[in-house]
Amino acid sequence: MSLSLDTRRLAMLAEMGIPLPPQAAKVAAPDAAIDEQSPGLPVTPDPTPVSTPAPMPVRLPVRNDAPVSPAAIVKPTTPAMPSAVGHLGWAELRQAVASCEGCTLCQQRRNTVFGTGAPDPAPGEAPQVDWLIVGEAPGENEDLQGEPFVGQAGRLLDNMLKAVGLERHAEQAPGGRVYIANVLKCRPPGNRNPHPDEVARCEPYLRRQVVLLRPRIIVAMGRFAVQSLLRDSVADVESLPLGRLRGQAYAYEGVPVVVTYHPAYLLRNPIEKRKAWADLCLALSVANRPQG
Ligand code: URA
Repeated sequence: MSLSLDTRRLAMLAEMGIPLPPQAAKVAAPDAAIDEQSPGLPVTPDPTPVSTPAPMPVRLPVRNDAPVSPAAIVKPTTPAMPSAVGHLGWAELRQAVASCEGCTLCQQRRNTVFGTGAPDPAPGEAPQVDWLIVGEAPGENEDLQGEPFVGQAGRLLDNMLKAVGLERHAEQAPGGRVYIANVLKCRPPGNRNPHPDEVARCEPYLRRQVVLLRPRIIVAMGRFAVQSLLRDSVADVESLPLGRLRGQAYAYEGVPVVVTYHPAYLLRNPIEKRKAWADLCLALSVANRPQG
């Protein structure tokens, strides 16, 4: 694994607003970048994806701010998915979302926002991706364009992805393939927070996306994505601050999940970008672990 920072990734980290110390180009272990005690960002791990399948590592209890042990995966219990959605293929799923009237959000939407990323390999077939990024819900721009994360937060997200070698529409990038989706597929009016019943009704779509996309890693961005994806693996997840859930891997549908801040939050709190970078490094190391 090469641990040097190339010029492009240095530029991307700079765009994330993360200043790099002069020694940044020197080698350090990926986990060192996760240590919040470490000044600056010593390293970018090699984003080359590992394609060897292997068993899911197992894992343990939720920690606080102790140093990260990415060896930990919490196994969730899987609730039954409504059979109607749980059996859909990719094209049918997309169609089901486009015509969904499962909650009142359908009344004001201009477009549903299914997700975007690596192109479908063949018409109607789900792309097999390495990373799945899960946000909260479409905002105004996303509702207009029918694509997730197209506003200011989306630009930051794109830079974060580039820093780990990913590009939203690329068939293949140095870090592999990525897909971006939200918990909700329709915009909550006025960008209000999603209501629990809306999350509950939309969740089967995201669950089916995960099953069909088969990512190596899921990055849950922000409170609503985290609560939705960790509900079955972390007791009282609603009552825990996101910061306490960072730094370890959980699981959703057998896929490791890493928690990080929402890009919109990072725009308001740029000091937290260092932690987001540490989270991406953790995600990278979990994604590159042999699976099977
Ligand atoms: N915020 C999200 O969580 N998702 C989007 O698609 C846009 C903004």
